Amino acid sequence: MRFGHFDDERREYVIERPDTPLPWINYLGCEDYFGLISNTAGGYSFYKDARLRRLTRYRYNNAPLDMGGRYVYLRDDDPQHARSRAWSPTWMPMRRSLDSYQCRHGMGYTIIKSQLDGIESQTCYFVPLGASLEIWELTLTNHRAKRADLSVFSAVEFCLWDANDDSTNFQRNYSTGEVEILDGVIYHKTEYRERRDHFAYFACSEPLAGFDTDREAFLGPYRGWDSPQVVEKGQAFNSVAHGWQPVGVHQVKVRLEPGEQKKIIFLLGYHENPRDDKFDPPGSQTINKRTVKGMIERYLKPDEVEKAFRALRAYWDDLLGRLTVSSPDVHTNRMVNIWNAYQVMITFNLSRSASYFESGIGRGIGFRDSNQDLLGFVHLVPGRARERILDLAATQLPSGGAYHQYQLLTKRGNNDVGSNFNDDPLWQVLSVSAYIKETGDWGILDEPVPYDNRPGSEEALYGHLQRSIQYTLDRLGPHGLPLIGRADWNDCLNLNCFSDSPGQSFQTTTNKEGRTAESVFIAGLFVLAAKEMAELARRYSESRTVKTKPAFELQPATFYREAARKLEEIVWSVGWDGKWFRRAYDDFGHVLGSQENDEGRIFIEPQGICVMAGLGLENGRAAQALDSVSEHLATPHGIVLQQPAFTRYYLHLGEISSYPPGYKENASIFCHTNPWIMIAETRVGRGARAHDYYLRTNPSAREELSDLHRCEPYVYAQMIAGRDAPTHGEAKNSWLTGAAAWNYVAITQWILGVRPTFDGLEVAPVVPPDWKGFEVERLFRGVRYRIRVERRGPGNGVRLEVDGKPISGNIIPLPKDGTTTVSVLVLLE
Ligand code: GLC
Ligand code: GLC
Repeated sequence: MRFGHFDDERREYVIERPDTPLPWINYLGCEDYFGLISNTAGGYSFYKDARLRRLTRYRYNNAPLDMGGRYVYLRDDDPQHARSRAWSPTWMPMRRSLDSYQCRHGMGYTIIKSQLDGIESQTCYFVPLGASLEIWELTLTNHRAKRADLSVFSAVEFCLWDANDDSTNFQRNYSTGEVEILDGVIYHKTEYRERRDHFAYFACSEPLAGFDTDREAFLGPYRGWDSPQVVEKGQAFNSVAHGWQPVGVHQVKVRLEPGEQKKIIFLLGYHENPRDDKFDPPGSQTINKRTVKGMIERYLKPDEVEKAFRALRAYWDDLLGRLTVSSPDVHTNRMVNIWNAYQVMITFNLSRSASYFESGIGRGIGFRDSNQDLLGFVHLVPGRARERILDLAATQLPSGGAYHQYQLLTKRGNNDVGSNFNDDPLWQVLSVSAYIKETGDWGILDEPVPYDNRPGSEEALYGHLQRSIQYTLDRLGPHGLPLIGRADWNDCLNLNCFSDSPGQSFQTTTNKEGRTAESVFIAGLFVLAAKEMAELARRYSESRTVKTKPAFELQPATFYREAARKLEEIVWSVGWDGKWFRRAYDDFGHVLGSQENDEGRIFIEPQGICVMAGLGLENGRAAQALDSVSEHLATPHGIVLQQPAFTRYYLHLGEISSYPPGYKENASIFCHTNPWIMIAETRVGRGARAHDYYLRTNPSAREELSDLHRCEPYVYAQMIAGRDAPTHGEAKNSWLTGAAAWNYVAITQWILGVRPTFDGLEVAPVVPPDWKGFEVERLFRGVRYRIRVERRGPGNGVRLEVDGKPISGNIIPLPKDGTTTVSVLVLLE
């Protein structure tokens, strides 16, 4: 069953009823100011960091789930209109049934439109480029035969900045809240009197009939957001908050003649003042508002709002125009051209910090996560990718290890989570190599970057990569495989944890010395990364212009090739189980992911990563491992993480066995790992199977199943419940997941087969045999490539014609300077 439809022309998903199975959300903002918004206007906003600079409150784990947001209330001031007396035009929070409702989630904006009793309302929410504020543009139309007299109320609840403190430290927070109100603008200035130089403001384009800033005054005692007393009575109190819960509410009276339309603009913004010019007059305790006045005046003008909206659309047109496909499959086209690229950008902005499933409090920017996310967005925002690479590298430790996470606001590593996730550093090699392939910017390797953000410890980025590789080599276990540390990609395979106390963190509890448990997955990842590193090393030594003496001895390319070869040998001797790759060895030295195990006999991760690293391509074992995946792990809803699922808690395996079978790391369909198998299938030349797997988890292809899938049909979720779960097929944790980048990479680079290399764009499609052809347009190093693929035979062999001339091989040579477009004809044979 569906709850809406795709409007590909406008790049929107159109939701046709408010009661979607879960809140279906969108993101506002693409620079410093961000917000989450649901299809019923729920959600919250923050500046840069969802934990440390939260502007508005949101209560997770609530009933109903989605409560708190950017609410507008409409009230009929004419007593004759009893039916429409008061309602929420976005349905929530009052949930009065509406005569019509529609929500359009687009690229960086959301438009919610509805009608009740002849009054149409449409609210367009977005964050203009270059500004730290959000606009709510409300358009009211009177379709009645008679004049309408309405009151409009806007409402937000302010968060006292640190979202964690705000939801825990009430003995202090109930006394600190402060606001100012001037010329219709509500200023939220809690803690401005002391160490904060920032405040929030909430402005309105119309003269006010009243306002409220004290929550209890607005709602009334014992009332909730679904029945504010002020809306019921029709008159705000002009309350001023002193402590407790500061809110922002404007009341505007609107008279609409029949057919008349009116726009009202609300602005919610964030502003910082210079510390020595905070107060006006100096020495007082009132906010200096001169510095923000211009910004507020500008965006309260309808034509400026319109201009800003057009600029936002142009921004996304440009980004999404960098890689487009036209294939025989609508789900491929829609996801590549619109939603998957969009989701990849959202994961770039927010990593795993703030979604409807990530509270914005717990996690900052993950080292492993962000390096992988980069693989998906590097062609969209190469300059920002460069900055992200350097920020991440600056949190690396001298050992080559890395803080598992850092906070975007401070750019410092997170001490509470720490390091020792032994796969972390290797992802850095993959992201840097992807960045150089995309941009040709070898200079990044010479960038001086500190360790652990310590001034004086700077070393060329290249040295960081060397240490990343060395980190694994310094930590090999009894079988010669890499030690797993706290965990590898699978955060929940905690082989050194042995936790038997409720509430202990599986990720940070380490009861074992960690000298025994090993990971085959890291071995595969190492081979992949070391092969990339060998290429980097060869070219780096050739291209180097800056001769700084590295603190770390420069290793030649042969060193990395040799290291990859040795680990590959070890995988064959102790990591191959006969029909598939094993997963790990535990602290007792027992194998996991083997025929010998009763539960956890086969895992998806090593099959994907080892084949991606090229293992088994020559001896047939790659295809054999993938056949085992198909036989044991594939379901109609995607490929599960492992089988059989763990039916009980195993002290020596950790969090993986803490989940009920079929959920999360215990045998759910982790959408992040499915693309590894798709890529692996292309490596063995099986395009039909690769694309079939692609469609099983493709959100658009699952739209018809929305009542089972439940999450948004336009973005990937972290997981889909596996076959052992009673709710098999139900998705969870949408939006912030490595599934976005990896699916994007799998479909664009490996199935459609258009991928950047150091020497140019390579074209090697592995598509289903029944595809007659397809087209890709891609911007690469400033040149637009128009690629047309035509099938001439059933296989994956390619012949290329570049601008009408046949070339040998399948890498399009870099064109002469000044070239703007290149046409490529690809014959698939
Ligand atoms: C989460 C984490 C990611 C991890 C995965 C598997 O998605 O963000 O880092 O690899 O879970 O445990
Ligand atoms: C939990 C989740 C896992 C996630 C981790 C992050 O273990 O199951 O997916 O990566 O938390 O801390």
